[in-house]
Amino acid sequence: MNKVSVSSPSNIALIKYWGMSDAQRTLPNNASLSMTLNQCVSYCTLARQTSGTSDEILWKTASGSLIPAQASMRRGIEQHLQQLRQHFDDWQPLRIATVNSFPTGAGIASSASGFSALALAFALRCGQSFNSPDLSRLARLSGSGSAARSVIGGFVQWPGHPGQPHCPPEQFAPAQHWPLHDLIAVVDAGHKNISSREGHRLAASSPFYAARLTQLPERLNTLREAILNRDFDTLADTVEREAVEMHMIAMTSKPAIFYWQPVTLEILARVRQLRRDGLQVCSTVDAGPNVHVLCTPQDVSAVYTALRKLPGVEQWIFDQAGDGPRQLARHLF
Ligand code: PMV
Repeated sequence: MNKVSVSSPSNIALIKYWGMSDAQRTLPNNASLSMTLNQCVSYCTLARQTSGTSDEILWKTASGSLIPAQASMRRGIEQHLQQLRQHFDDWQPLRIATVNSFPTGAGIASSASGFSALALAFALRCGQSFNSPDLSRLARLSGSGSAARSVIGGFVQWPGHPGQPHCPPEQFAPAQHWPLHDLIAVVDAGHKNISSREGHRLAASSPFYAARLTQLPERLNTLREAILNRDFDTLADTVEREAVEMHMIAMTSKPAIFYWQPVTLEILARVRQLRRDGLQVCSTVDAGPNVHVLCTPQDVSAVYTALRKLPGVEQWIFDQAGDGPRQLARHLF
């Protein structure tokens, strides 16, 4: 197969993976649970290079033209390619184009969607099927652990037992089971100052990290049950507690990491108030300042009406639970 194109989604962690047991192989210290998104996706087209002996890595601009990818993105892709080539023993130079449907590097897991898209496209080109159990491992070879969850749709659990080389993520409920909405408040679309990789490295320096790890298994089970039973109150309580705790670990790491901005806190407070007013809504924040506002389909327009005028939000992205990656017939070049 010469030209291959895929789309692969971002995901929002409801129980966060924070801290690694093995940075070399991107293995987490704790199990995590996420909802795969539908609209926030990375597109990737990959083909054999017809001229020259080196890779050509391109980014598709908003106007539709293909330009060389920025140095940092190029580096990340080259490193991931190196791992994929070793795995498949396929060393042909490639032409690769990619683009995201949402802001890159701003805490909306663009690395999860981008690297899972690259892994999937490469694997398909090498004759693997979309259902191969190896895909999550290939995605996380990029160094982005959350990419391992993005190859699967719906509600996903990544067991992540320290010391075990590969416990692949699994879907425990499809998106249609509970098509929750995710209104993403983009507070700052710029690149975050501190990468999640650095956050993982520093996590264990927080004096509260060990206590977090002991509480997580029970919290994860509570949330999983809440999703299976469509119990929004338990989901809201668990998801908000979890987000605050992950950021508390970051804020008490040495050195401290602050991802939140004043507007982030303002949105979290407004969402709690809306819930007290009777709406089924809650919030979570990944490694960045942007807020994911989760709500049920019946309350999504009331929630947006209440929040849309909030000063300080650069952009609202409307998303919801999605089915996972797709192979595409339309190519980026
Ligand atoms: O996948 P990484 O290495 O970028 O780390 C993801 C970290 C969080 O988004 C904060 C949590 C998670 O589980 O996705």
